[in-house]
Amino acid sequence: MTEAAGALSPNAEPSSPFLRACRGLPTDRTPVWLLRQAGRYLPEYRALREKHSMLELIRSPELAARVTLIPIDAFDLDAAIVFSDILPPLVGMGLELDFVQADGPRIGNPISRPRDVDVLGTPPAEETMAGTLEAIGLVSRELAARDVPVIGFAGAPFTLASYAIEGGVSKDFSRTKAFMLSEPAAWRRLLTRLVTVQADYLLAQARAGAHALQVFDSWAGRALGREDYVRYVAPHNRELFATASQAGVPVINFSLGVSAYLTDAAACGGDVVGLDWQLPLDEAWERIGFDRPAQGNLDPAALLAPWRELRPRIDDVIDRAGGRPGHVFNVGHGLVPQTPVDNVRRLVEHVRERTSA
Ligand code: CP3
Repeated sequence: MTEAAGALSPNAEPSSPFLRACRGLPTDRTPVWLLRQAGRYLPEYRALREKHSMLELIRSPELAARVTLIPIDAFDLDAAIVFSDILPPLVGMGLELDFVQADGPRIGNPISRPRDVDVLGTPPAEETMAGTLEAIGLVSRELAARDVPVIGFAGAPFTLASYAIEGGVSKDFSRTKAFMLSEPAAWRRLLTRLVTVQADYLLAQARAGAHALQVFDSWAGRALGREDYVRYVAPHNRELFATASQAGVPVINFSLGVSAYLTDAAACGGDVVGLDWQLPLDEAWERIGFDRPAQGNLDPAALLAPWRELRPRIDDVIDRAGGRPGHVFNVGHGLVPQTPVDNVRRLVEHVRERTSA
């Protein structure tokens, strides 16, 4: 079974630059992929979205595979990330999810009391996320000949809990924090259930053919100070990374906005640390240790600037990586919908040109 090769032979040296960098091995060029590379800035994606709802795209293996491949075919990126979202696994737990155009994700029955936590289910991913697992298989077979690895992903428990409690996007996370501080036992039960479901989902994605896994903790760093992070989040993240490490493929820990406690966030686990754009790459990398592979960290807003401004910023990230092995070039948060497609193309070409041996 070629699609599970990553999981079955974890010790064989990979040939793709991305998987080599994830193991700290030397590469003949710096691999590059981009957070939210398959998203709304792409006209082909927007056209498909006119015909299908977000959940239809995610649940259809063929459509999800097609969206995953759009940026790979267009820009020759070094890794594909399966088209899905961090929130669909909540549906299997009993939460009602919808994606409302221009408004973002909505949960119809948000959690407001401890009792709401106790009715959440923890069904296996093979039952609830079959479309995404099948899409991973399709994409990994399609890309095997090009030696382009496929990344599976899941949300970290705080980030998912914030959607489950707020019912959508939040500015200050006040409901989430009120619940966390007022109902610490129910908070622990909620995060424990989220970890059970996400860990199972990550392992299932590796079995389905994902060659690497990324955990997105998008909001803990924005919401919490260090003490609360260490107390209410870190133990659960450690649990998630400990289980995910059994997948036998590299795991990327992307925690946004944690510059104030980067070492605590990195210590939760993951082979590779995904860095946001707040600190210069060399300074952040030094904090986590140059022996640990790092992914990042161009500000995605730089892609909204003209090339004369974008180019030196790309060069700055490359220069700060300093030719050390274990660097995956990426943006420090997702590409925004206004991103000009041509800047994405030029960025990928430039990273390849500048870093080729
Ligand atoms: O490259 C890719 O785009 C891969 C697929 C992907 C999506 N979401 C598709 C999506 C991935 C990896 C995500 C992760 C995700 N989703 C995160 C973590 C990364 C991050 O940016 O911090 C978070 C917090 C979410 C939750 C979410 N989903 C939000 C806040 C929104 C609305 C705003 C937005 O980014 O568009 C979504 C919707 C969503 N997820 C869309 C896409 C393509 C847009 C849906 C649409 O077309 O209406």
